Amino acid sequence: MSFKSIFALAAVAVAVAALPPRRAACSNGRTASDAACCVWFDVLDDIQENLFDDAECGEDVHESLRLTFHDAIGFSRNLTNHGQFGGGGADGSIMAFAQIETNFHANVGVDEIVEAQRPFALKHNVSFGDFIQFAGATGVSNCAGGPRLQFLAGRSNISQPSPDLLVPEPSDGTDKIFSRMEDAGFSIIDTVNLLASHTVAAQDKVDASIPARLHGLSFWVLLTISYQGTPFDSTPSMFDSQFFVETLLQGTLFPGNGSNVGEVESPLHGEFRLQSDFEIARDPRSACEWQSFITDHQAMVSKFESVMQRLATVGQNPRALTDCSEVIPVPKAVRLPAATLPAGKTLKDVQAACAATPFPRIKAAPGPTTSVAAVPPS
Ligand code: HEM
Ligand SMILES: *[C@@H]1O[C@H](CO)[C@@H](O)[C@H](O)[C@H]1NC(C)=O
Ligand SMILES: *[C@@H]1O[C@H](CO)[C@@H](O)[C@H](O)[C@H]1NC(C)=O
Ligand SMILES: *[C@@H]1O[C@H](CO)[C@@H](O)[C@H](O)[C@H]1NC(C)=O
Ligand SMILES: *[C@@H]1O[C@H](CO)[C@@H](O)[C@H](O)[C@H]1NC(C)=O
Repeated sequence: MSFKSIFALAAVAVAVAALPPRRAACSNGRTASDAACCVWFDVLDDIQENLFDDAECGEDVHESLRLTFHDAIGFSRNLTNHGQFGGGGADGSIMAFAQIETNFHANVGVDEIVEAQRPFALKHNVSFGDFIQFAGATGVSNCAGGPRLQFLAGRSNISQPSPDLLVPEPSDGTDKIFSRMEDAGFSIIDTVNLLASHTVAAQDKVDASIPARLHGLSFWVLLTISYQGTPFDSTPSMFDSQFFVETLLQGTLFPGNGSNVGEVESPLHGEFRLQSDFEIARDPRSACEWQSFITDHQAMVSKFESVMQRLATVGQNPRALTDCSEVIPVPKAVRLPAATLPAGKTLKDVQAACAATPFPRIKAAPGPTTSVAAVPPS
């Protein structure tokens, strides 16, 4: 080959490399970096409208986020080391073998969202493992101040039932929870980061007599409710830092008929406190990370995004999956108000537990003592 033709070839190569990568055409004029991502635009449209009630951050979103964890945490290196099946992690087994896994004690209540999601996964012919993580990532993007999670597609639809006793219980002590999480690949700090999910969480099974939120409502939300006069059930929850404040307040009451197993006293009428959240907030190994989120919403979100990449791929090889994150909506830009002490509380009510850093001097919300409005029955 002459010098000239080598030069010409090189020029062509440079020109080709400079072309924008070819994008696959998907429905409604959208494009994707990989044709395998197109189906997820259709799933997105469908679940935002028909599962999440027009892209709300409501109960089905909360349950979908919880389900990402309950599927993925079914994974144990310890069991594998003992020659037993350790579970497949984020493999959709909780949906494929719902009749087994949703009967595990720690999965109480999860059957509802599994059965609500299943028809969508079947309709769009996507694997159960992919669907569960996609629904969680899409759902939480609807929450004000929420994260934009990565979404990788391509998990196999073939799975085996997870062994029982791998999902942490709210009545478990921190030693037990931390070693279980470690066994699935998550450090103590990772576990605190994952619990940012409880900023948009409610319970209705630990105390079945009263559905109640685990997080409070910032002053801003309470103002919005009274301003708009809207009933509480149409008020979306926010991915804000209030949860990390309120879990550190001294408990004074049971919101329902407590004390139930896994429940401890909460500081506010209508708010429910899990024993596990109470203990992780105060354990010297986790307390400083916990407290740090009170004044750093940005860190809370970015650390959650980061740890969720790993949760969503427990038991999977992420390099063998296709990155379809572009399908996940960008959460609306909102400026959340700073975390406050609920009205009626002072810094004296705080059980600060981080030895290294003093509790931040956050303001108290004005007005009469707050109570957290009830969650409507579903
Ligand atoms: C580390 C140990 C954890 C324990 C002991 C725990 C325990 C619980 C319990 C008991 C409930 C209430 C269920 C009910 O009665 O309806 C709950 C709700 C929830 N959990 Fe966790 N959880 C943990 C970690 C996680 C993680 C890692 C995630 C997600 C990444 C998560 C997401 C949620 C969500 C979103 C809800 C609210 C569900 C709803 O409102 O319907 N949890 N959790
Ligand atoms: C590890 O697995 C073995 C075998 O099932 C079990 O006896 C042991 O309690 C497990 N250890 C932990 C820390 O879970
Ligand atoms: C996934 O497996 C379930 C059975 O567990 C089956 O009903 C469904 O059609 C499968 N979906 C795909 C995409 O293969
Ligand atoms: C559904 O997905 C499975 C597995 O990916 C594939 O074998 C099957 O042909 C698909 N069915 C339809 C109707 O597209
Ligand atoms: C609360 O009520 C439920 C039934 O709704 C019952 O199973 C539970 O034992 C009660 N708990 C307490 C502490 O009374």
